[in-house]
Amino acid sequence: MSRIPQSFIDDLVSRADIVDVVGTRVPLKKKGKEYTACCPFHHEKSPSFFVSPEKQFYHCFGCGAHGTVLGFLMAHDRLDFVEAIETLAGQMGMDVPREGGNTAQENPHAPLLAILDECSTFYQGELKRTPKAIDYLKQRGVSREIAATFGLGYAPGGYDTLERRFNADDATRDLLKRAGMLSEGEQGRLYDRFRERIMFPIRDRRGRVIAFGGRVLNDDKPKYLNSPETPLFHKGAGLYGLYEARKALGRPDRLLVVEGYMDVVMLAQHGVREAVATLGTAVTREQVDLMYRNTAQVIYCFDGDEAGRRAAWRALESTLPQLRDGLDARFMFLPDGTDPDSLVRQEGAEAFRARIQANAINFDHFLLSELEQQTEHDGSPAARAKLKALAQPLIQLMPESTLKELVFNSLAQRVGTRVNRLQFNAPAPQTPKLHRQPPTSNTRHSAIRQAILYLLYHPELARDTALDPAWAQSVIPGYVLLAELIATLRANPMPLGILLEHYRNSPQLKTIDALACLPAPQDSDDEQVRQSMWRDMLSHLTAAFSRERLRELTAKPFDQLQTHERHELLRLSAIKLTP
Ligand code: UTP
Ligand code: MN
Repeated sequence: MSRIPQSFIDDLVSRADIVDVVGTRVPLKKKGKEYTACCPFHHEKSPSFFVSPEKQFYHCFGCGAHGTVLGFLMAHDRLDFVEAIETLAGQMGMDVPREGGNTAQENPHAPLLAILDECSTFYQGELKRTPKAIDYLKQRGVSREIAATFGLGYAPGGYDTLERRFNADDATRDLLKRAGMLSEGEQGRLYDRFRERIMFPIRDRRGRVIAFGGRVLNDDKPKYLNSPETPLFHKGAGLYGLYEARKALGRPDRLLVVEGYMDVVMLAQHGVREAVATLGTAVTREQVDLMYRNTAQVIYCFDGDEAGRRAAWRALESTLPQLRDGLDARFMFLPDGTDPDSLVRQEGAEAFRARIQANAINFDHFLLSELEQQTEHDGSPAARAKLKALAQPLIQLMPESTLKELVFNSLAQRVGTRVNRLQFNAPAPQTPKLHRQPPTSNTRHSAIRQAILYLLYHPELARDTALDPAWAQSVIPGYVLLAELIATLRANPMPLGILLEHYRNSPQLKTIDALACLPAPQDSDDEQVRQSMWRDMLSHLTAAFSRERLRELTAKPFDQLQTHERHELLRLSAIKLTP
């Protein structure tokens, strides 16, 4: 992936507001100049997580987690740096530019992505000129707009359609095969995998086509055919419709997990844009992880039959290990013989939403009532003990949290025993993983550090500050950084969180980052007072710098000093003599 220009990152970060970005993910309360919440990175009952609009920085005094708006997105949504930039840019309606733009060479999957994109375009074109495919979608109630939103297409009949379409040489054939578009028959003959099917492109989080699902127009088997596993596509990893949901809603308040492609498409058409499907497999932990990176509430929507309940149970098992405080999972079962597609067509979106509202049960309710079915319903001590034995290891899958305690509580109520008896055999709760605290050597409150800290809080002070150029060449730790910061902030007085992004790849980052976590300096609301405090700090530092420099110069034999050093020595001695 080619580089994103630093100027774009600076611009993006300075336009974003960390309070908005954190606030859509964590419920923030205003407290003085800052905002506070229970930390999303560790389990706590009283808030020690702070977000500062002034500094554009967040910090948890409980676990030490801290950083900028991009750092927050990386940690909270579990994104890499580039993804965090793309997410933020997406939310602000900005396009991410690339330096050079020569991605083909750097992304090994680029040729696969490119050919899948061309296949998708081709299939969309074929749909437009194939009346029986159009009729099929019409008869199922799919509108032209929603077909376009989801990029639906049609794969025509014939065994070498793609080969002819691409005028394929050996390399292209190989590419099509690796992309999952060609199957291999006897004697290695390659032929089109998808024939006479409605095509559903499966997209990754950036909207790039990585695979397809294809449905027959009649009752042939298999009804749906999916791309095989390829370097781009892993069935248990993706979610059909997630890209489209995010595109329509940004970060959705919840995701509705359904079984089929058509369910997602038809729900979206009726205005329920938050549906995703699991591509015909049981819900995996990876998919659950992906869902909770994008929302706080997941509602599983399955058939009410035996198979549906089994699928829901598998989903529950994948979900429990990820249910932290603040997250929620619910289950709802549909009447026999219906699916979300048929329901929403019958009753409309309003009624469908009302149905979710009325029927979705909490995950713990589902867990306990399913297990109760496996015990005698007689309330006997034996039945209750069995329920406890079945439920406890499952609840134990949950990370330590208030939520987990509450689920233990409801189990205790059903079993009729005290919670502490239940948890007696539980492994000791894990202590939250502590983020590295800044090393103590970096947090020494020396005068120079105090000055840097003060400047970080009041970048505008740099504007009228002239500095001794000798500082920039100094060997005394801190002076170089201070000089550099003054120069940077004089040109552009950015808040701390933006400055940190500016320094992301600099060796100085660690020092600034550590300083950023220190408690706010003693301060005043009066600008005059602040300026005079700043001038005092600087003159104190100037004096200290001169003393230090004088010590350096006098340590050398006078005859080895260069002319300018002799002048400097004389000047410094003179200063020192003045009271
Ligand atoms: P369903 O059989 O419930 O299909 O399969 P559906 O979505 O309601 O299909 P329509 O309404 O008849 O078009 C649910 C999902 O299981 C996977 C597909 O992802 C499908 O959307 N599936 C189903 C397959 O992969 N292959 C199949 O043969 C059938
Ligand atoms: Mn269906």
